[in-house]
Amino acid sequence: MAKSNSFSCNACGASFNKWSGRCDACGAWNTIVEEAPLSAGPASKSLGARRGAPIRLTDLATEEAPPPRTNSGISELDRVLGGGLVPSSAILVGGDPGIGKSTLLLQAAARFAQAGLKTIYVSGEEASAQVRMRAQRLGLADAPVQLAAATNLRDILTTLEAEKPQLAVIDSIQTMWADNVESAPGSVSQVRAAAHELTTFAKTRNMSVILVGHVTKDGQIAGPRVVEHMVDTVLYFEGERGHQFRILRAVKNRFGPADEIGVFEMTGAGLAEVVNPSALFLSERGQPSPGSVVFAGVEGTRPLLVEFQALVAPSPHSQPRRSVVGWDGGRLAMILAVLEARCGIPFTGLDVYLNVAGGMKVTEPAADLAVAAALLSAREDAALPAETVIFGEISLSGALRPVSQTENRLKEAQKLGFTAAIAPSGGKPGADSGMTLTRMGDLTAFVGEVFGA
Ligand code: TYD
Ligand code: MG
Repeated sequence: MAKSNSFSCNACGASFNKWSGRCDACGAWNTIVEEAPLSAGPASKSLGARRGAPIRLTDLATEEAPPPRTNSGISELDRVLGGGLVPSSAILVGGDPGIGKSTLLLQAAARFAQAGLKTIYVSGEEASAQVRMRAQRLGLADAPVQLAAATNLRDILTTLEAEKPQLAVIDSIQTMWADNVESAPGSVSQVRAAAHELTTFAKTRNMSVILVGHVTKDGQIAGPRVVEHMVDTVLYFEGERGHQFRILRAVKNRFGPADEIGVFEMTGAGLAEVVNPSALFLSERGQPSPGSVVFAGVEGTRPLLVEFQALVAPSPHSQPRRSVVGWDGGRLAMILAVLEARCGIPFTGLDVYLNVAGGMKVTEPAADLAVAAALLSAREDAALPAETVIFGEISLSGALRPVSQTENRLKEAQKLGFTAAIAPSGGKPGADSGMTLTRMGDLTAFVGEVFGA
């Protein structure tokens, strides 16, 4: 049978039957490469198998309860996993090279091993001696974790078969290669094949597997997105260059809430948990200044206060600049349009810069009102009261929409010394948190109240 899809995109894994310069699926340039087809096994002659035979749901219920989850004791990690490691699960940890994935996973492997799981850490990038040196530096030299340096999938599966670990960390999936696949390590076919073999092995042998995947920029190597659909849980490890903070973010989780984050700090002795991230993200905040607004956000199940900073200045360009770090550029354009259309406050001829302090990325629409407040405060050169937090979603009509977890947001703000909050009207009243809560129905009312316009 002729194989039609023999080109695939290294960034997103989409398949095509001809080459092109740009991937139609994800828009990346120069990421499409020709792939050798997977060599198929001998065709099955009969239909006799009973392997996929169905079982009644009620029959399953009588089987023993699944073994419990294991906690690593690194609570920022355990929470992101949805409450510890689920037996026989497959997890992908993606992130930029150098962000700290190997450090995090070596620490996690050691802690899971100390918690009683038989654990193997397989490195395809470093020799075992180098991994051991790193472990020494992290103070984990005597953890009962086994180390292996290998890249051939057959060797690794043989080792896993013999050792029967309960957890295997594969660092990284892009260095693994299967000898029955005729393409270079790191190609889409190799990464897919290796991830498929490892995850199926894990499911059938009662082993959990954590795959490390480098996010690649140049498209030469297949990125972690290619295997996202094969695993139960997808975590991304993020951080800004120049900042010590690292965020572990769940983007997919069959066993817990997605959007959950864990906050770490990269230190000389590895990654340290940040137990109170709000305090950390607000730590550089000085006197109240125009353009600075504290947003009471929620990441997953945890409230998190972050500071938005805006700068608005007359533009020397015919096309004014719109620059945003840590938030969505499209959403910024929408807020600017709503401010102009509904409140009559134009930003034409003005450059707009918007930042989330501390290198945090905010994805909640609940930040809309805080962003609008930061933009107005910068434009009017008027600082907002230092002890106030703001949250609320803005609709295209200029109405403020209530957001979830009002109570949680207020409690966190109060804990950090804030005394007042501005929030949308409607939604749940929220228990008395001791905060002065001002509720508003639309953006025009907000502008009038806060900026007296
Ligand atoms: P690493 O875990 O190797 O990144 P990845 O596996 O994602 O490529 O981390 C690399 C960076 O972390 C490197 O720049 C050095 C720094 N680092 C520390 O600051 N402290 C430490 O204890 C360790 C082990 C690494
Ligand atoms: Mg690494």
